[in-house]
Amino acid sequence: MRLSDCHNFHDFRELARRRLPGPIFDYIDGAADDEITHRRNAESFERCDLVPSVLRGVENVDISVTVMGQKLALPVYCSPTALQRLFHHRGERAVAAAAAKFGTMFGVSSLGTVSLEEVRRAHANPQAYQFYFHRDRGLNRAMLERAREVGVEVMMLTVDSITGGNRERDLRTGFTIPFRLTPGGMFQFAIKPMWALNHFTHERFRLPQLEEHVDMRAGSMSIGRYFTEMLDQSLGWKDVEEMVRLWNGPFCLKGVMSAADATRAAGIGCTGIILSNHGGRQLDGSRTAFDQLAEVVDAVGERIDVMMDGGVRRGTHVLKALSLGARAVGVGRYYLFPLAAAGQAGVERALGLMRSEIERGMKLMGCTSVGQLTRANLRFR
Ligand code: FNR
Ligand code: LAC
Repeated sequence: MRLSDCHNFHDFRELARRRLPGPIFDYIDGAADDEITHRRNAESFERCDLVPSVLRGVENVDISVTVMGQKLALPVYCSPTALQRLFHHRGERAVAAAAAKFGTMFGVSSLGTVSLEEVRRAHANPQAYQFYFHRDRGLNRAMLERAREVGVEVMMLTVDSITGGNRERDLRTGFTIPFRLTPGGMFQFAIKPMWALNHFTHERFRLPQLEEHVDMRAGSMSIGRYFTEMLDQSLGWKDVEEMVRLWNGPFCLKGVMSAADATRAAGIGCTGIILSNHGGRQLDGSRTAFDQLAEVVDAVGERIDVMMDGGVRRGTHVLKALSLGARAVGVGRYYLFPLAAAGQAGVERALGLMRSEIERGMKLMGCTSVGQLTRANLRFR
């Protein structure tokens, strides 16, 4: 199976599965508890149908959007994800370059493996910095300051990870950073020599956003332990209000789910919110972002930009979310599997497929701009 054989998410996932050591594939693919929310994320788009209009002159279609003051050439952005150099040795470098080529936003994770500074120097497309709020307030202030100096456009505070989700696949494989593997996990690395060769012959694995503050050499740290031990569980609306004031620029909360919280976010001056259950990786049994979208747009859509992520695999999923009032849609695994499968070329192929699916879908819907997608285009069964 080669990159040219990949025509959709499922193909990329399969190619990534063949190339990655099992514990790393499972870290990306897996989710919390019984992975019910993870499965429902993708299924939620199938509960409604698009109702096209015809004969509307669709030779020119504009799929650009403006969200949180940022102009994006397509209504899909690369949601921040951790540890990308584990998936492919170029990691964030590859994803950021692909996002820039497609004129869209790239989110740098607090647990990113390439520095904010390097990503900024390389590309001028909009960047978001995904912030985890640590117990160490000095670290929080330093990170905000650093992001400002770098010239990041959007501050994105993730609020659904106040403690680690129960990721049982990771418990079984012993997935930690750096690695500490069970014998079974070790075997998985041994049977993927190309991955091991690339990983170990390139620059050392680092977490440049955090390394001044977290000593990764002191022993391996699981993602669950990072959340539980490093993040501030006392975080409340007052702290966020202060952060919004300090940042004094586009600021969004990632992981809001209720209309009441969305209203609160608008009240403290957030520019946007991202409805998200973290790809099903945190609270299993949580409702899906797509199912919450209409209610939240009705509550705050006039005041702030509402976005969503989770389970987006197709251009038509994006059209459905936009029809309900989302301003843009985030993808995670949709670009991570292509990254693992083929680096930058993989991510470019995936974004290219997404762009043509959206353009084709718009034409078949009889819409020439994203603003023409409304709830009249959608029926729930
Ligand atoms: C994530 N996600 C995530 N979110 C975040 O705010 N900070 C992070 O560091 C990460 N890291 C991360 C790693 C991996 C491997 C995955 C799969 C996801 C969540 C991500 O931004 C997004 O919310 C989900 O991935 C969306 O769901 P889909 O598109 O993967 O279904
Ligand atoms: C994850 C993190 C790091 O979902 O957000 O694995």
